[in-house]
Amino acid sequence: MSKPRTYLTTPIYYVNDRPHIGHAYTSLAADVLARWKRLDGHEVFFLTGTDEHGQKVEKAAREAGLEPQVFTDQVSEHFRDLARRMEFSNDDFIRTTEPRHRRACQALWTELARRGEIYLGHYEGWYAVRDEAFYGPEELTERDGARYAPSGAPVEWVREPSYFFRLSKWRDWLLRHYEENPDFIAPASRRNEVISFVRAGLQDLSISRTSFRWGVPVPDDPDHVMYVWLDALTNYITAAGYPDMDHPRWGFWPADVHFVGKDILRFHAIYWPAFLKAAGIEPPRRIFAHGWWTNEGQKISKSLGNVIDPLALIEQYGLDPVRYFLLREVPFGQDGDFQRRALVGRLNGELADGLGNLAQRTLSLIQRNCGGRLPEAEPRSEADRAFLARHVEPLPEQVRLLLDEQKFDAALSVLFSAVREGNAYITREQPWALRRSDPARMACVLRVLHDLLRGVATLLQPFMPGSMGRLLDQLGVPQEMRDIARLGAPLPPGTPLPPPSPLFRKIDEIP
Ligand code: ME8
Ligand code: MG
Repeated sequence: MSKPRTYLTTPIYYVNDRPHIGHAYTSLAADVLARWKRLDGHEVFFLTGTDEHGQKVEKAAREAGLEPQVFTDQVSEHFRDLARRMEFSNDDFIRTTEPRHRRACQALWTELARRGEIYLGHYEGWYAVRDEAFYGPEELTERDGARYAPSGAPVEWVREPSYFFRLSKWRDWLLRHYEENPDFIAPASRRNEVISFVRAGLQDLSISRTSFRWGVPVPDDPDHVMYVWLDALTNYITAAGYPDMDHPRWGFWPADVHFVGKDILRFHAIYWPAFLKAAGIEPPRRIFAHGWWTNEGQKISKSLGNVIDPLALIEQYGLDPVRYFLLREVPFGQDGDFQRRALVGRLNGELADGLGNLAQRTLSLIQRNCGGRLPEAEPRSEADRAFLARHVEPLPEQVRLLLDEQKFDAALSVLFSAVREGNAYITREQPWALRRSDPARMACVLRVLHDLLRGVATLLQPFMPGSMGRLLDQLGVPQEMRDIARLGAPLPPGTPLPPPSPLFRKIDEIP
């Protein structure tokens, strides 16, 4: 039987900048879902990459005194480095300056042109280089004689010949698509914003520029380069092999979830499905637009000098606490404020005192009192059975349902209430006091705790792959028994367990 397939993506990030916490966040969410799906028996294709064309990158290269390609080669490397250091499990890393991508963009353009979806005209209007986006006059605000987009980016008046995509004609189809596919845009509040925007009417979209050179040339009219968003969005099909539909990866299309920040939802939820539909390609299944991080209450910006470097955070707190914190602290989809005090609080409380301590107590008792071997499960009391049936056995299905809706924080909260129950159980049963009075009962209690820890550690692997791998080592769970399907198969009693060592290091100073 062939495995179900899952295709997950992150935005491709602009290379005019160093990666920061926001980039790490989106990719982390996608990584956790990718790891979860693999663990749950899916064949996964997880894509991330860099967006290397456009006026903004051309300008940044010029400021750095480099040729655009040399510049993008350098800066793109920072994003590959981030992926390694964050242990992202991406199967591919796409760069829009690769030949395979130029080929896909030109093929998509040619197909759109063949179908009469593109025409040549003149573009006149407001353009924000920073957003690489066009804005209507009603969207702008005026300050000190200059005009600004809703994002705060300055806009300039642009007039040049341009090709247009017949976006306006897809308005009704889009509205119907949103209606018939209620899960297409998440979360629901964002979906409503998109629907009102489209209802208000869509204009045809300028999809080429002549005022700069750093882009994919338009087929048969190389004075024009493609508008960076048409180029950028196409990355999602390039990596699946487009235009070669016999490519082994084409079977992954349509993407299951495009993870994006709310800043770029419009491009993904309006332009992208319209481009695809117009070219006769199936649209993606879902776009999830998450919220915006601030730093200790302040907007994150280079000019404020408060950009959070994810590598520095990992250095200071360890990778897994950072991975955990980012997805635990804020319901996915909502805005969040990054506070070091909160990170340290969760690291010390939930990870070290909660999970780490439960594992350490259980495993050192097994080490000391059971000869370092996994105890028998039976005879189990009715109360033990009820405890596991209530707090442990439902976990895989609960986590599965929550992650299918990208509710990362809720999945973590369910898993950590099981940890709390485990700590309450060990306090109640006091296995350390049973060593003399009732060693058989002590063994049962420790086995219940072992089962709980194994369940929690298995399900937490996508969030904290390194430390949960170590915990599963200490629990004596062999590699081939670490997926969700094998969670129901009991470990044989007598399995030797290595001596335990602490999973998380507490941080002393509260910042
Ligand atoms: O927009 N909070 O690239 P980009 C949360 N190249 N997420 C944040 C964030 C913050 N403060 N700051 C950035 C582009 N992000 C295009 C995308 S896709 C075909 C092309 C994250 O480098 C968030 O995911 O500006 C946001 O959507 C993305 O970085 C923007 O990255
Ligand atoms: Mg941006």
